[in-house]
Amino acid sequence: MINILMVCLGNICRSPLAHGILQSKLPEINFFVDSAGTAAYHIGNKPDYRSIIVAKEKGIDISSQNARQFKVEDFDKFDYIYAMDHSNYTNIISLARHNKDIGKVYLYLEENRFNTNKNVPDPYYGELEDFKKVFNLIEETSELISKKLKATHL
Ligand code: 4NP
Repeated sequence: MINILMVCLGNICRSPLAHGILQSKLPEINFFVDSAGTAAYHIGNKPDYRSIIVAKEKGIDISSQNARQFKVEDFDKFDYIYAMDHSNYTNIISLARHNKDIGKVYLYLEENRFNTNKNVPDPYYGELEDFKKVFNLIEETSELISKKLKATHL
């Protein structure tokens, strides 16, 4: 089993989308996908209703996800830890115990050669339109990541 973790700040807007979309593109017999937030603000909460809506419009149900906080043990469980922006990346790296942990952490948009901005914009204080843009960016990036993971591990 290859274990993949998507990480943002609150685990209610961006990483639940990255989690649900990537999961929909990979065979669950080979790949386990999860998500977490670096902050504790929303532990136990459902994804933001706007993320739920934009995903549902594209046939992806993320409504059963529950927010949790990233923990040090995630470095043991996961093979790939994707940070949605530079700030999330720095926060995850600050918890790393050794180089092996650091080697598992990737900036999500480094996987998307079509996109020059390397931060997935935080839509929390934005409008539904911002969530749609984030969905499209994550959908494009998930396609690239899923192809790479399948080529590497299947
Ligand atoms: P996320 O968005 O990191 O994409 O889940 C946010 C959600 C909540 C907050 C910030 C960002 N907040 O400050 O509560």
